[in-house]
Amino acid sequence: MPDIKKILVTGAVGQIGSELTLALREKYGADNVVAMWRKTEPSEVLKESGPLVKGDVVDANAFAGVCDEYDIDTVVHMAAILSATGEQNPMLCWDVNMNGTINVLEVAREREMTQVLIPSSIAAFGPETPRVNTPQETVLKPRTMYGITKVAGELVSDYYFYKYGLDVRGLRYPGIISAETLPGGGTTDYAVEIYYKAVEEGKYNCFVREDTVLPMMYMPDCLKATMDLMEADVAKLKHHSDFNVGSMSFSAGELAAAIKKHIPEFECTYEPDFRQAIADSWPQSIDDGAAREEWGWAPAYDLDSMTKDMLEKLEARHKEGKLYG
Ligand code: SER
Repeated sequence: MPDIKKILVTGAVGQIGSELTLALREKYGADNVVAMWRKTEPSEVLKESGPLVKGDVVDANAFAGVCDEYDIDTVVHMAAILSATGEQNPMLCWDVNMNGTINVLEVAREREMTQVLIPSSIAAFGPETPRVNTPQETVLKPRTMYGITKVAGELVSDYYFYKYGLDVRGLRYPGIISAETLPGGGTTDYAVEIYYKAVEEGKYNCFVREDTVLPMMYMPDCLKATMDLMEADVAKLKHHSDFNVGSMSFSAGELAAAIKKHIPEFECTYEPDFRQAIADSWPQSIDDGAAREEWGWAPAYDLDSMTKDMLEKLEARHKEGKLYG
């Protein structure tokens, strides 16, 4: 098993980073997981539960300095510009995602780190890819800048594995749904916002069509997938930086219907914007046979069990007047 001792999480205040940092602190010891953030002020719980450092992964020297200061042997690189923001500002997306990734890989290679985790996304696929049960090995011709940076990230991560023996791993996250930190700038954000608005206002105006189907995953499964892949025996891995991981698939209309079972008066309207074209270029469901075979991936949640849990959490916070934290 990988000898992971001191982890740096970039993008630690983001939707996944904020919860992953806490889960990693639980598992590897609070002092052994450093949370790196750049713009958004970290929450109290992130601040109080372990080491925190302000930094920008695009600045290679500063990033190397942080790794040396904390004696980091593993980087979990969550900092990225997502698909919708990436279409509004392609150059920023290229800069942060490409330069951030290569800086992480170079700093890790120079220091002979134990492991690097760099996530990819269903955005790595494009309109020429088979959309149903998208295979592990298939056409990778994305039409978004975000997707382009994710394909390049997968390829360069595998390059570092084969050329330098650096243990880089990655998985293609579907849309991630969670109740703690809101996502920012992604196309799948509607699947999170809808829960917040259902609880807050009993209605939601969705920015994709009712029949839009995308692969999604609930945060507890996302944390499990990420940490299980980190702990997998490298000798058993045939893939490294590009694992498909599936969990559930549903249309925006089916999502609204699942919420309606709990909140009967909930009304969802649909007003597609530029994000519709992005959603239409992505898969509807994922074949994750390689992840299941090579490191035992199996998700726990489906649409109904996730919806129950999401609404319980958000309703409890809403009652205390703290829906948004
Ligand atoms: N959730 C991401 C996005 O929508 C996809 O990885 O951009």
